Amino acid sequence: MFRRQFLASLATPLLGAPRFTTDPFTQGIASGDPLPDGIVLWTRLSSPQLNESLEVEWILAEDEGFKKIVKRGKEVATPQFAHTVHADVRGLKPARWYWYQFRCGGVESRIGRTRTAPAPNSQDPLRFAFASCQNYEQGYFTAYEHMAKEDLHLIVHLGDYIYEGGPSANRPRKHDSPEIQTLNDYRNRYALYRGDKDLRRIHELFPFVLTWDDHEVDNNYANDKEERGAPRDQFLERRANAYQAYYEHMPLRKSSLPRGTSLDLYRRLDYGKLARFHVLDTRQYRSDQPCGDGRKPQCEAALSAEQTMLGDAQEKWLMSGMKAAPQTWNILANQVMFAKIDARPGEGAEYSMDQWSGYEVPRQKLIQFFDQAKPNNPVIITGDIHSNWVSDIRTNSNANVGVEFVGTSISSGGDGIDLPFAEANFKKENPHLHYFLAKRGYVSCSVNIKEFKSEYRIVPTVTSPGSPIETRARFVVQAGTNRVEKA
Ligand SMILES: [Fe+2]
Repeated sequence: MFRRQFLASLATPLLGAPRFTTDPFTQGIASGDPLPDGIVLWTRLSSPQLNESLEVEWILAEDEGFKKIVKRGKEVATPQFAHTVHADVRGLKPARWYWYQFRCGGVESRIGRTRTAPAPNSQDPLRFAFASCQNYEQGYFTAYEHMAKEDLHLIVHLGDYIYEGGPSANRPRKHDSPEIQTLNDYRNRYALYRGDKDLRRIHELFPFVLTWDDHEVDNNYANDKEERGAPRDQFLERRANAYQAYYEHMPLRKSSLPRGTSLDLYRRLDYGKLARFHVLDTRQYRSDQPCGDGRKPQCEAALSAEQTMLGDAQEKWLMSGMKAAPQTWNILANQVMFAKIDARPGEGAEYSMDQWSGYEVPRQKLIQFFDQAKPNNPVIITGDIHSNWVSDIRTNSNANVGVEFVGTSISSGGDGIDLPFAEANFKKENPHLHYFLAKRGYVSCSVNIKEFKSEYRIVPTVTSPGSPIETRARFVVQAGTNRVEKA
């Protein structure tokens, strides 16, 4: 690869001309946010003696053997951004695989594979998987070992990529520092997670589209409000640390460079005329969880018109982007459950105040928008709650206007448990609900212009490595129906 192609450039000393005594690429490589003509390539250099800016070279080829190199370039990895590299490669062909590699100080990274999005007019089918919630302490990332064998174009990660807490006892693995607060703490936490072989491998094999939930910063934070009520300035400083480390470690475009204590993360990605991904940020702009958070009846505050989940700007952006979408499917990459689930069996009702049910006015506004503006086939994909849920989204007068597939965690919550009676209870309280299962895994989706299929892939155990995988349920949405059926 590089050795052959870059013999000439070896004669020119690189900035800083490093001599690495250890492999600088131990945190892996990644790619993300595919466009029809572009992709982001990512890596981070790490080495004990690293404190200057270094030039990192990258090459991208049409074949695994790097016989046909089509792009190459250089990026400067600076200590200000933890020696991370975000190369925004353009001028590529649509819907095809590419292979890439980095080099610095004479050392080559492993080879990564990635894929561009289809051309704007394409109606080609799409296969993708979505995942969330990978608590390192609570289990192995075996689900990724199985995902790596799937025939996919893309992986969507819906948040809780890291967890912020300190170490806990009696877990299969351990966080290596107390609760993270500083920029350096957050960076080290990403390094710990990327030490996982299955996580590194899945990034090498597929492009990712990522968004965050709460644990990339702090459990159940809302905009500038910390979970336990830390002073605003203090929390915003912590949030800025967390946001910067997130940008540094994810294959994001420079449009997501942190600005002060903010970071623009919500964005759209189109897969031809087939699907439009609206990648949401339901943490940075939301109002505080009403009624003191937790699970309870919807109090007055949960029904208040003051409540916001997306903030005005993102809400308008979402609606106009959905309405204008020529694609068959509008896929909302969402964090917290959108369907309203009464979790109290029998009389009375209790809802999660951290989910959209704590934000009933904006939730109803979006449902009304689905009903009246009739954007093409809304499909909400969701993470956060470490369990699988499948729901129809209905108006108050029971018109079907969309569907929601909630995927479980990769590892958070440990092995999980089969509770058929719980599923029966939930269904009794919630007639729009089709499925519930509190086990670990991910969801594999297969989409064409006629149907959206989802398969719930489950690993029976995550507290020990090497679990097999099984498909526990299959669903299908026929275009034009906004209704989930068993497949
Ligand atoms: Fe989580």
